[in-house]
Amino acid sequence: MGRYVVERVKSGIPGFDDLIQGGFPKGTTVLVTGPTGSGKTTFAVQFAYKGAELYNEPAVIVTLEERAQDLRKEMATFGWDLERLEREKKIAIVDGVSAVVGLPSEEQYVLEGNLNTEDFLRYIYRVVKAINAKRLVIDSIPSIAFRLHDESRIREVLLQLNTILLEMGVASILTTEAPDPGRGKISRYGIEEYIARGVVLLDFVEKEVELKRYLLIRKMRETKHSMKKYPFEITEEGIVVYPSGEVY
Ligand SMILES: Nc1ncnc2c1ncn2[C@@H]1O[C@H](COP(=O)(O)OP(=O)(O)OP(=O)(O)O)[C@@H](O)[C@H]1O
Ligand SMILES: [Mg+2]
Repeated sequence: MGRYVVERVKSGIPGFDDLIQGGFPKGTTVLVTGPTGSGKTTFAVQFAYKGAELYNEPAVIVTLEERAQDLRKEMATFGWDLERLEREKKIAIVDGVSAVVGLPSEEQYVLEGNLNTEDFLRYIYRVVKAINAKRLVIDSIPSIAFRLHDESRIREVLLQLNTILLEMGVASILTTEAPDPGRGKISRYGIEEYIARGVVLLDFVEKEVELKRYLLIRKMRETKHSMKKYPFEITEEGIVVYPSGEVY
């Protein structure tokens, strides 16, 4: 019998798939973690956008830190026309901010302000089915937790979320924050990395008078990967990784 071959999902991030045997294992939940401004939102949205644009895999983006309209504007600076793909039903953006801050929203997909966990998960499930999504992004986990009246429930919620994601069979990226992931804690609650089947850490290193970006694959189940730090840049076309570059 031949060796079991893992189906791969292309990340849409130039240079990145070379580091993980061609892409994320199918149906995987990947955690993207790092300090503020490290590129978590860009990484996650690029995965969704390029998936829809290049690989015809529809994607749902759940934005819990900024309103859908602000996200569209920000991502347009990379030349990504989210609205066009939304019209084509290849992307659905779930606005998880407007209702919480009490602003009216004209979005098609809006999360109500006072949702319990079950409603939250059910809503996401519905949107995934509505566009037959193959990819899902949730930005971010801490902002799910802030919405819960009891933050200590986050552990249960993440377990529930993980089960639902596996059940749906989508490839998902969840973002979380870690002030200094190179040392110490790599996620906010210290449990996100356990539910995720992969962990990608984005961070900075000081080089002479400037900060340089690097990424590290902390884990990726079913995948041979190195534990090296790789340089990356946020360019006008989004994130580009340099697999043969060195980080000092
Ligand atoms: N059009 C652009 N061209 C090049 N770099 C950009 C562009 N837009 C943003 N950036 C860089 O990307 C950074 C923001 O990245 P991003 O929002 O993905 O980070 P994040 O980790 O999600 O941050 P936060 O903690 O605020 O959520 C900016 O600080 C800037 O350095
Ligand atoms: Mg962000």
